[in-house]
Amino acid sequence: MKIAFFDSGIGGLSVLAEALRRFSGAEFLYFADEDHVPYGTKSRAEIVRLSLDAVGFLVSRGADAVVVACNTATSAAISELRGAFSVPVIGMEPAVKLAADSFGARPTLLIATPLTIAGEKLARLVGRLECETWSLALPRLVEFAQDLEFDSPAVWAYLREELAKFELERLGSLVLGCTHFNYFKDVLREILPPHVRIIDGIDGTLNRLASELGGGLKLAHGEDLPSRAAKFDAETDGKNGGKIYYPNGNSVEYFYSGRALDAVQLRKVEIFLKRLDAMWEIG
Ligand code: DGL
Repeated sequence: MKIAFFDSGIGGLSVLAEALRRFSGAEFLYFADEDHVPYGTKSRAEIVRLSLDAVGFLVSRGADAVVVACNTATSAAISELRGAFSVPVIGMEPAVKLAADSFGARPTLLIATPLTIAGEKLARLVGRLECETWSLALPRLVEFAQDLEFDSPAVWAYLREELAKFELERLGSLVLGCTHFNYFKDVLREILPPHVRIIDGIDGTLNRLASELGGGLKLAHGEDLPSRAAKFDAETDGKNGGKIYYPNGNSVEYFYSGRALDAVQLRKVEIFLKRLDAMWEIG
């Protein structure tokens, strides 16, 4: 069984990284739409078209299920994707309900892309909550991540300035409503008051994937658990058409907008996964 993950870029690697920890013996595909990132500042119609192309490619490569590891593409295109393909398509929504249920006595601050924040899907979701929910679009954070700029002075200044618009002491939680934001958990942790929880929504998405596939994915247990960093051998992996083998018997075939990754690009993926690994327990 092949499970595909799709994002506009490298953000969805945060969901894939957790899947690599959680499951064993799985064949994964990862599609980053590097030719068209960022999605969050484009029109809904454009994102629908790009998402249909990406998922069409993944299905043509044998995907039995697709995780849209992108809040923006989910917000803009999930109905169209489900209408167009017969494989299960699992979306990713900002975890504002989890935040409200767990810490709803205080307000939630949702950070996401402009498209997600303007979307009807989010308005419906937030409309059903009792909890006070504030939102903030952080499009530059996507660019910083894509440029491998994770904790530069510019990142700190941008986040400090944007978050200063809110009464952070009043907050119960910060919801990361864009998968690219997972790269900045350490910086966000430092800026936020210590009582504010950071919620990413990755677990919820993988729980839905597992239940949708009804036992089609094997859970990794105890001694099988991978050392969380990827095992990478550029010598062989570069010649493997963009495929990397990981502990736990998992493998991932990586594509940038439909092209298999070369050894240099695969080595960069390893840097991203290591960064995500370091962010793992921050919350
Ligand atoms: N990673 C995507 C998300 O979760 C979108 C980033 C972008 O391309 O703007 O929303």
